[in-house]
Amino acid sequence: MTPPELTPPQVPLRDLVPDYRELSPEVAARFAHLRERPVILSIRGLEKSFGHGGSAARALQDMSFDVHRREFVCIVGPSGCGKSTLVRIVAGLDEATGGAVLLDGQEVTGPGPDRGMVFQGYTLFPWLTVRRNVMFGLRERGQPPRAAEATAQRWLEMVGLEGFADAYPHELSGGMKQRVAIARALANQPRILIMDEPFGALDAQTRAQMQSYLLQIWKNVEVTILFITHDLDEAAYLSDRVVVMGANPGRVVETIENPVPRPRRPDQFISRSFLSLKRRLTELIQPHDEAEDAGTLPISKLTDAADTVE
Ligand SMILES: Nc1ncnc2c1ncn2[C@@H]1O[C@H](COP(=O)(O)OP(=O)(O)O)[C@@H](O)[C@H]1O
Ligand SMILES: [Mg+2]
Repeated sequence: MTPPELTPPQVPLRDLVPDYRELSPEVAARFAHLRERPVILSIRGLEKSFGHGGSAARALQDMSFDVHRREFVCIVGPSGCGKSTLVRIVAGLDEATGGAVLLDGQEVTGPGPDRGMVFQGYTLFPWLTVRRNVMFGLRERGQPPRAAEATAQRWLEMVGLEGFADAYPHELSGGMKQRVAIARALANQPRILIMDEPFGALDAQTRAQMQSYLLQIWKNVEVTILFITHDLDEAAYLSDRVVVMGANPGRVVETIENPVPRPRRPDQFISRSFLSLKRRLTELIQPHDEAEDAGTLPISKLTDAADTVE
């Protein structure tokens, strides 16, 4: 007699999860509204090659997308696809070899206080207190000390670190350092906040907490965010839209309207809309056969088959 079937029948994921393009009426209405807002950042046919002539390496090819006012756009893509190259060009730290970056319709030609930057590596000045780190850009731009101090205080309150104003960066945890970096960037009232894998070096729990802080800050501050990550959960949790990049050369593969309703909560990580987006992102970033191969190492070849415990 055959034993009863103990495992439930395998239902393919595609039958459990809706299509990522299915937007609830609320989410669709939100996007209709978003699309009507002015474009803050416009990436137009951006090209970047490193080197010259036959040895030139093409890092970015014909990249175009727009970011609307108060929109939260995430860029995801495999390592080495050109995300940081794009950020450096938008920041004005590097020059494109073709195309243009427009901020409020004006072509970007160099760095400026209209773009706030937060990078993965901790970039606070170690010799300055937290307060002086946040005041730095304001003082550079000629704000008197008293006013700069008051502004810094407000932003430190916003990130919940007013009690650490006199501490030095080495006295803070990684998450706290990044909160100061966010306060420092926002104190200059940039038109857009550009974040390049800002939580990439943090442990999972701190990262989740930082994501939630960032959403709270974004909700309360007039700022548009361009957020680079290779963490698909992070992109699905934070974004309005996700720009998916492909590699060699770096380019836009697809731009996706995030179907997950706002306000976001961590328990949405298992919602149908979240999973539908996550599945699409995974398909785009890990083409099918690669996904199947990933994680399978030829370990058995290194052991004596007779000795294996499994
Ligand atoms: N200064 C540079 N000179 C030459 N090649 C570079 C330079 N900066 C980046 N690259 C190359 O451009 C590609 C994209 O890099 P990067 O923008 O750092 O990718 P990502 O941030 O997506 O991991 C990589 O192949 C990298 O080697
Ligand atoms: Mg990078």
